[in-house]
Amino acid sequence: MKILMVSAEVVPFAKTGGLADAVSALAGNLSLLGHDVKIVMPRYYKIDRRKLTPLEGPLGVPVGMGQEWTKVYKAPLPGFPKVEVYFIDHEQCYGRDGVYGTRSEPDFYDNPYRFSLLAHGAFQICNKLQWFPDIVHAHDWSAGLVPVLLKHVCRSQPQFRHTASVYTIHNLGYQGVYGKEKFSDLGIDWNLYYGAGFERNGAINFLQAGLTCADMITTVSPTYAHEIQTMEGGFGLDGLLRVRSDVVRGIVNGVDVATWNPSTDTLIPATFNSKNMAGKAICKEALQKEFGLPVNPNVPIIGMVGRLVSQKGIAEVFAPTYGSIYRMCASMDLQFAIIGTGEKWCEDEIRNLEAKLPNLRAKIGYSEKLSHLIEAGSDFFLMPSQYEPCGLNQMYSELYGTLPIVRRTGGLADTVQNYNELTGEGTGFMFDSLTPGAIYDTVGWALYAYYNKKNHIREMQTRAMSQDFTWEASCKQYVDVYNEAIFRGCR
Ligand code: ADP
Ligand code: GLC
Repeated sequence: MKILMVSAEVVPFAKTGGLADAVSALAGNLSLLGHDVKIVMPRYYKIDRRKLTPLEGPLGVPVGMGQEWTKVYKAPLPGFPKVEVYFIDHEQCYGRDGVYGTRSEPDFYDNPYRFSLLAHGAFQICNKLQWFPDIVHAHDWSAGLVPVLLKHVCRSQPQFRHTASVYTIHNLGYQGVYGKEKFSDLGIDWNLYYGAGFERNGAINFLQAGLTCADMITTVSPTYAHEIQTMEGGFGLDGLLRVRSDVVRGIVNGVDVATWNPSTDTLIPATFNSKNMAGKAICKEALQKEFGLPVNPNVPIIGMVGRLVSQKGIAEVFAPTYGSIYRMCASMDLQFAIIGTGEKWCEDEIRNLEAKLPNLRAKIGYSEKLSHLIEAGSDFFLMPSQYEPCGLNQMYSELYGTLPIVRRTGGLADTVQNYNELTGEGTGFMFDSLTPGAIYDTVGWALYAYYNKKNHIREMQTRAMSQDFTWEASCKQYVDVYNEAIFRGCR
């Protein structure tokens, strides 16, 4: 099958979150199954042109009221040489830091234009290559125009008549909402403002349009597929998703086990596996030293890695006076090692807490290496998400024998099994309602097991580490979805 992926983020070229990991791993693993996969993304400022191969000539892309001239580059996807990544180079749109925005301008004012250029450009690249996919697979709001263009513009052209679209929601919380006046930036007929489902509360909603027009819709776990169809989890789009529920599927993400495998990981000071955990103790010591925590093998470390945004339950952990972390650190025999960036109040509060608590240490920033060290050296991993479409860190944690403490939501519910203290079964610790009290109690529960049920902890680690989180099974489900999209879309 010929598959074209369109995404604003692709590892290792540009990443703000798990979307980037998921897109490249999915594309790569589909290629291993024999599919012909290409990816289109913008060439952001930080992607060095000198490492890419230019395609001959310019590429004209219709967008806004006219046409933009772009240059196209390509490069193989690292680790998966059969996948070609095509970069749309346009200095004015993409020649800047930030995928969606910067700290001072979190959502670039011209994002409708930038991501319309991406969607139109993807189809123009197919024309230029004379390569026409069976499936266009668009990811998240920033590629929302792709299913719209296929359905309302391209499918009437003979070369795309047999192409179908799949649209994957990695996070329903980000919808691409812009003022109606920006609609002319999209380079499509005004009839489509209503006709393709852009209109919502008098504004443009990219995600809603993509969901309206796609032949099949997927999201990144079965539980999240259910939650987005409820009022509580639907971010206002639950009605539309219920109407389209016959084409909605939930497929859990896999893990890139070439990068995340404790027995081969080159970013950690010692490797280990479920039969020989000696290396994990070395990693724990290195983690304590690196973070400036007292070195003590007998105190459990709780790790946290991620974006410090409300989705991740940061208020219930870190909010001054309300959050649970001060009480946990002050009253329990534990250590916290944290890495993350995000909302300023949270970063500031973490620095405040560090000054008061010798058993809490954090790095405000982004580091692959330190995230591997936290996963490898911690005993537990805290992820109390408000909602979590899939979540990757809880799976990394399990594979590293670091038992996750999570809220039972979305992908967390699908990838962690709760501890049963009678039998010792489970791979982590779960709670239901997101409150500071529930986090405190569940961390306390995990610590109780750590100090008093050592055999259970060991069994849970072995079970967690032997889980199959590879992409193989997920890829097969995507192929089923692609076939169904072709069946539905091209009738
Ligand atoms: P989300 O996509 O909502 O941010 P995921 O758990 O799916 O959540 O993916 C987050 C990805 O980003 C993981 O690969 C995680 O390790 C990585 N990550 C997030 N913040 C940091 C950070 N500060 N340093 C290193 N890696 C990070
Ligand atoms: C999103 C979600 C996260 C998911 C990732 C990859 O960023 O927040 O839960 O794992 O996309 O699909």
